Amino acid sequence: MPNRTVTMIDNRTGEKYDFPILEPTIGPDVVDISTFYGNTGMFTFDRGFTSTASCRSKITYIDGGKGQLMYRGYDIAYLATQKTFLDSAYLLLNNDLPDEETLASFTEEMKKRSFIHEGMKKLFDAFPDNAHPMAILSAGVSALSTFYFDHLDVDTPEEYMEMAHRIVAKIPTIAALSYRYSQGLPVIYPDMNKGFTENFLYMLRGYPHHHIDLKPIEVKALDTIFTLHADHEQNASTTTVRVVASTHAHPYACIASGIAALWGRAHGGANESVIRQLEMIGSVENVDKYIAKAKDPDDPFRLMGFGHRVYKNFDPRATILKEIQQELVQELNLDTGLMAVAKKIEEIALSDEYFIKRNLYPNIDFYSGIILQALKIPKEMFAVIFVIGRTPGWISQWIELKEQDNIKIARPRQLYLGPLDRTPKY
Ligand code: CMC
Repeated sequence: MPNRTVTMIDNRTGEKYDFPILEPTIGPDVVDISTFYGNTGMFTFDRGFTSTASCRSKITYIDGGKGQLMYRGYDIAYLATQKTFLDSAYLLLNNDLPDEETLASFTEEMKKRSFIHEGMKKLFDAFPDNAHPMAILSAGVSALSTFYFDHLDVDTPEEYMEMAHRIVAKIPTIAALSYRYSQGLPVIYPDMNKGFTENFLYMLRGYPHHHIDLKPIEVKALDTIFTLHADHEQNASTTTVRVVASTHAHPYACIASGIAALWGRAHGGANESVIRQLEMIGSVENVDKYIAKAKDPDDPFRLMGFGHRVYKNFDPRATILKEIQQELVQELNLDTGLMAVAKKIEEIALSDEYFIKRNLYPNIDFYSGIILQALKIPKEMFAVIFVIGRTPGWISQWIELKEQDNIKIARPRQLYLGPLDRTPKY
């Protein structure tokens, strides 16, 4: 049995330090450097956490080289094509897929909890017209703590699950209201006769007392987008949720922080940026010019919806969405100029040396932006859609952290390069 350690030699002194190697179920071995500072008096430096495992987790696994993604051991393609979003949400929260009866009662539970306190409507009224729905959503989730404040200290598995159900069920309602208020549209309450995803589309696009004709392909496309976003290991927003949770902040604060982190264009804001960029490019004739800009090292312009920190082969979520996009185009008879621009960009990028060398493939946001636009969902709502999908993942990760024996506050150190000795004599 080989010695499962890594030895570090300080070449200045010749001193040797051993660090244990932890063995995962699958994936790269992990060197435990938690004693590094104590033993060596030095910090490690890892900008952007490219080599750092920040926690132990049993929830989601990604192999970026193979383009593989699993929730609780189930392949994403199986979950996205054979199961619903609520199946995946239940799986993430409970570790097992629900049987038919369990799924039915979970669906009922989501419906019952989908209404929000009427008093919350005053909050929405306070925002100016055209406020971004992500801003209203994060404020709305924070505000839940003021309406359901008797449940802020959650410490038992039953309380975790109640909190999970409340947040997963209410976020689509807050999300839809964020949009309705930002547009001055009449409020639509949840419809107890509709399923989770259908109900969200209804609250977003419907009118009071008016039947809305939603095509099954539209509901399926959005449900698949929710499933594909449901969890993604220790990404920026999930890490944010865990960092905030490590301070023992209440779960609404943790989820609101996750929403803030997700908003950025390098993360969940990318699908909105994809469409804005396609609109800016405007026509197929302009594509070459923008590809050249993306390749120019002196130009900060990046092709939105391309590249990924972890996937260096292809993004399995993008492959599934590409198929959905094709189905949608056929069934809804869509033919927009933007799709032609997107197709040209995709063709060039997939065959261009610059993109191939750097493993820059279309990611989930490249296709989700185009699909959401086909579903007549306004651009400002794209990141909000991502939030609805990601919520079960954030809460599962929050529960996993809460269930640890001793939670350690997340508190990284730094490489200080600032000034010294500037205090005057006084
Ligand atoms: N367009 C042009 N060049 C790019 C792009 C792009 N979209 N992405 C990366 N590069 C280049 C980059 O300039 C660098 O080139 P060089 O080696 O010559 O300096 C190289 O590729 C590596 O880039 P990086 O920034 O070091 O890679 P990263 O892993 O830190 O960043 C990323 C990953 C997703 C932030 C980045 O690829 C990006 O900004 N993409 C566009 C935004 C986007 O689509 N984000 C959605 C990510 S998927 C949703 C999610 O999971 O949150």
